[in-house]
Amino acid sequence: MPTPLRRLLRISQQQLRAFEATARLQSVTRAARELHVSQPTVSVQLRQLSELVGEPLFEAQGRGIRLTHAGEALLGTVSDIGACWQRFESQLADLRGLLRGTLRIAAVTTAEYFVPDLLGPFGAQHPGIEIELAVENRDRVIERLHRQADDLAVMMLPPQDLALHSMPFRDNPLVVIAPRDHRLARAGGPIGLEEIGHERWLMREPGSGTRWVAEAHFASRRFAPRVAMSLGSNEAIKHAVGAGLGVAVISALAIGGDGLPGGATQAPAGSPWVCLPVEGFPIPRQWSLVWRSDATLSAPARQFVAYLREGVTGGAASA
Ligand code: PGA
Repeated sequence: MPTPLRRLLRISQQQLRAFEATARLQSVTRAARELHVSQPTVSVQLRQLSELVGEPLFEAQGRGIRLTHAGEALLGTVSDIGACWQRFESQLADLRGLLRGTLRIAAVTTAEYFVPDLLGPFGAQHPGIEIELAVENRDRVIERLHRQADDLAVMMLPPQDLALHSMPFRDNPLVVIAPRDHRLARAGGPIGLEEIGHERWLMREPGSGTRWVAEAHFASRRFAPRVAMSLGSNEAIKHAVGAGLGVAVISALAIGGDGLPGGATQAPAGSPWVCLPVEGFPIPRQWSLVWRSDATLSAPARQFVAYLREGVTGGAASA
């Protein structure tokens, strides 16, 4: 065996985990925190890894760090190795004729209101399957898809720059909510965007799919909302609207409202918000289950796709 390869085979799992976390979080401190080890431990692992590779893996960029070319190549290799192990795990499960293994699924934050309800009955049917659910905003889920961190993802807006299978399975209407005592709360007919133009708009953080769709919708109508605040979660948006800080675009599912026949939506009675009948709303969107076209799905992931497709959830899945 050539000597450099012999050296590379001495790389440990801990070193690779420290490297992957540091590359993703762009910080040794944050990687150490995520891995529940001390910062010097991560630094030592990175130094040993760099020695085994024979190249620097990170370089300074301003006050932070970034990957060198060798670091980028190693990150790609780490992701390939992860995908290989997942394929092997799935092959083993197939060989044993058992549905065992791990279902790794990522869901955008807005999907957290219903994905656990889908996973519950699935997990009960397949006690041999361990489920790992990661909940992140759209940008973070896309980043996870790029590095093949999950088997499947649930999202509203699959990215265009990745070859993906996409299976729409549930409606996701986006509505405008306002405090219950808002001056337009009792408006019967459609409210024009010009009527609501000078409101204070509360938006989700950059990177959120909800924000992306709302901005695209407004831009297509040449409407520039007065953005008063960006908030990092649907819960924060709901509380801020309820407290009278402004109006917002949000998934009807996130407020416990649901799509009604004819595309109308309403907030549940007793909530501190109402849905305003703004022209062009609800924005009709859908949830899709997506996975990479170049990935071999694990046995648990294949089973979950079939489960959603068949609508085993009592009608929640309609694809
Ligand atoms: P998000 O979810 O706003 O929580 O990112 C919406 C989506 O992208 O599907």
